[in-house]
Amino acid sequence: MAGPNPFPGENNTGHFWDDNLRELNNPPPSWWMIGFWASIAFVIGYFILYPMWPMPYQPVEGEGFTKGVMGWTQIKEYQEGLQDLQEMRAQYESQVAEKTAEQILADPGLTQYTLASAKVLFGDYCAACHGSGGQGNPGYPVLVDDDWLYGGSIAKLTETISYGRKGAMTAHKDILSAAEVDALAQFVVDLSQGKATDEGWALYNSKGCNACHGPMANGVLAELPGGEIVTVGAANLTDAIWRFEPGGLESAKHTILYGVNQAGVEGTRDAVMPGFVETGKLDPVAVKKLVVYVHELGGGK
Ligand code: HEC
Ligand code: HEC
Repeated sequence: MAGPNPFPGENNTGHFWDDNLRELNNPPPSWWMIGFWASIAFVIGYFILYPMWPMPYQPVEGEGFTKGVMGWTQIKEYQEGLQDLQEMRAQYESQVAEKTAEQILADPGLTQYTLASAKVLFGDYCAACHGSGGQGNPGYPVLVDDDWLYGGSIAKLTETISYGRKGAMTAHKDILSAAEVDALAQFVVDLSQGKATDEGWALYNSKGCNACHGPMANGVLAELPGGEIVTVGAANLTDAIWRFEPGGLESAKHTILYGVNQAGVEGTRDAVMPGFVETGKLDPVAVKKLVVYVHELGGGK
């Protein structure tokens, strides 16, 4: 180690090992130095502008820190963001309040907003019965298909959600013979499989089932020129979608015997959709949002 520098003219520290292993004394590359000074400048700048350093002196609990000249705080930023959001919402909300459901649906941006907002309402007020996505629950109708009891138009949906529904079907246990009940239940099952017989249809019509379920047994009594359907909320018997669990022969027999929503009839099917405006649970704007939501769930039919 001692002795003259064996590499004169080289910028080394004079520390040598193993003859030629030595420590050089070069400055770090300039990009590194720039970064080094810049980060110090950044910390100083940050210290001046932003809250940064905790102080031992706490005039107010939790307030003992350097504040920075900009007066920025996280809570202030959050509140400003919230205010922006509320202003944006207020703008949409007033449009939703003024426009009809049809007008909302004609405006894609407003529809998006309405759907997002209605999704929360649906979760709070409807999902317990109809399932979180409207896919239905045992005993409660599916809202995501085009199979409607009362109709999926804006007008029908508004009526349903505002005032509720309570479909009624007579109990036939004292009206029909056991053989007739069996035959009709079989007819309903046959219908759902697309193989109903003429005798089945004749019995269906002669026992007055058509008065509610319609001449085609699809739950539709008539179709108005505008496409609106006339129904009393009777189920479509021609498809394989069962309103009441578990579906099939025994289930159909049960419904025929005990009916739907028949006061005082033990075993009657329960099918009550509560009204939401009547009871003051939702205001008309919330209902309008839900109408748009359910309308879109049902594929716009
Ligand atoms: C307590 C359970 C319950 C709740 C809560 C409920 N519904 Fe219903 N809903 C029903 C039942 C039962 C029916 C079928 C009524 C019938 O058969 O007469 C129904 C029917 C409907 C229909 C008619 C479906 C068709 O095929 O015509 C719509 C639309 C509907 N509900 C939407 C909603 C919306 C939107 C909400 C939330 C605001 C909601 N429901 C909350 C039980 C419920
Ligand atoms: C007064 C009107 C009315 C009459 C008459 C009527 N129904 Fe119904 N029916 C309904 C209603 C309303 C529903 C239940 C719809 C709902 O709430 O989903 C229903 C439901 C049913 C169901 C259950 C369907 C399912 O998917 O689970 C069957 C089966 C049925 N009816 C068969 C018949 C038969 C057969 C007759 C004739 C003997 C008949 N109904 C007469 C109104 C009626």
